[in-house]
Amino acid sequence: MKAIVFHGVGDIRLDTVPEPRIEQPSDAVVRITTAAICGTDLHFIRGTVPGMQPGKILGHEGVGVVEEVGRDVRNLRPGHRVLVSAVLGCGACAYCRRGYFAQCDTINPYGSRSGTGSFGSPEAQGPFHGLQAEFARIPAAHTNLFQLPDSISDAQAIPLSDIYPTGYFAAVIAGVSDGNVVAVWGCGPVGQFAVLSAFQRGAGRVIAIDGHADRLERARMLGAEVVNVNETDPVEAIMELTLGIGVDCAIDAVGVDAESPKSGPAADAARQADDRHRAELREIAPQTNQQDGRWKPGDAPSQAHAWAIESLAKVGTLGVVGVYPATDRFFPIGTALSRNLTVRTGNGNHPRYIPRLLSMVESGLVDPETMLTQHEPLDDALAAYREFDLRSPGWLKVALQVSPALQRA
Ligand SMILES: NC(=O)c1ccc[n+]([C@@H]2O[C@H](COP(=O)([O-])OP(=O)(O)OC[C@H]3O[C@@H](n4cnc5c(N)ncnc54)[C@H](O)[C@@H]3O)[C@@H](O)[C@H]2O)c1
Ligand SMILES: [Zn+2]
Ligand SMILES: [Zn+2]
Repeated sequence: MKAIVFHGVGDIRLDTVPEPRIEQPSDAVVRITTAAICGTDLHFIRGTVPGMQPGKILGHEGVGVVEEVGRDVRNLRPGHRVLVSAVLGCGACAYCRRGYFAQCDTINPYGSRSGTGSFGSPEAQGPFHGLQAEFARIPAAHTNLFQLPDSISDAQAIPLSDIYPTGYFAAVIAGVSDGNVVAVWGCGPVGQFAVLSAFQRGAGRVIAIDGHADRLERARMLGAEVVNVNETDPVEAIMELTLGIGVDCAIDAVGVDAESPKSGPAADAARQADDRHRAELREIAPQTNQQDGRWKPGDAPSQAHAWAIESLAKVGTLGVVGVYPATDRFFPIGTALSRNLTVRTGNGNHPRYIPRLLSMVESGLVDPETMLTQHEPLDDALAAYREFDLRSPGWLKVALQVSPALQRA
């Protein structure tokens, strides 16, 4: 079968690889109809989140049709259209039962403290090949696959594999509730869903921050007040907009590839921090492999969460869903302490939220398809990766069409 395979930092290819099979009684094999490219995949290829094994199939977002199930999968049968959860739980351990699927004790064969089980991820997160492929093996399929009604299309469903539950989880851990003023740092696909979810959870105002005008415009369409870091000092702007109090809740939807501002009043301060940011980057990502501007790590790994902490109101809460690797130890703990801030982090507990998000889509309350800006065939995935990596204008989220979304007869 065809699949997008990681060969090394800065080196991904469209390869022909063996098809997966059922290995455990709770596995299913799914024929992928639609997959997607995620900001998380970029961290792996840029080298800022290390630990990917060469030969691993990339991708953790997918919709498909069940081909085959193991004997312990009693809620699905071949032919069912399903959404795949990017975060894997076993559905049986004490963590899963309390809804902490991202901290499942048993899904990751490398051990209960090795890392959140996911597809196409660094090896510590389990041996699971990714979903940017014609077929995929899904472990604990009873918990990690969700049947899709015919009324929800592949394009409407694919954001629920990862980016929508992540944005929703971000609003939950940032403690968003009625009337709160919320800052969402980063207006990539995860940030967009964090804006939407913050409003869904009762936010009074959402301030969305990024350096890309097209992404800010989309956040504005969702109702956010927008701040461009290349035109305005974002911390000053937030203080001005909030009577000098700051925001109640902040969400980091940027992660380790954060950029420093390149123009405007915040650029001067950023230039002064250049050496510090370069040192951070060397330590976090000793190996990178940039080619003609491609796969370039962000130049200021701690910038987004530092601004987020700076602009929180006293006793506010920061929710971090932007991904940082275990090698990252640059967090402004002193400022956080001096203002009695709460910091919550993590990978989303997706199977906990997917059913309620699916009902919102089914009822017509939300149409996640509007976040997809490109639909590319799997054969063109490498070119699509490049545009998404460059954050080319208009390239917010790429869906990959893998095979026709027809039900099996
Ligand atoms: N925790 C989870 O479960 C989970 C799940 C999915 C994705 N993620 C992570 O969420 C993050 C966002 O994902 P995405 O797909 O939206 O990625 P993305 O790369 O498309 O978006 C990141 C956005 O942040 C902006 N940005 C960069 N530096 C900034 C700064 N200093 N201030 C404000 N904005 C800045 C970029 O311009 C970009 O629009 C990534 O780190 C990804 O790995 C986490
Ligand atoms: Zn993702
Ligand atoms: Zn579990």
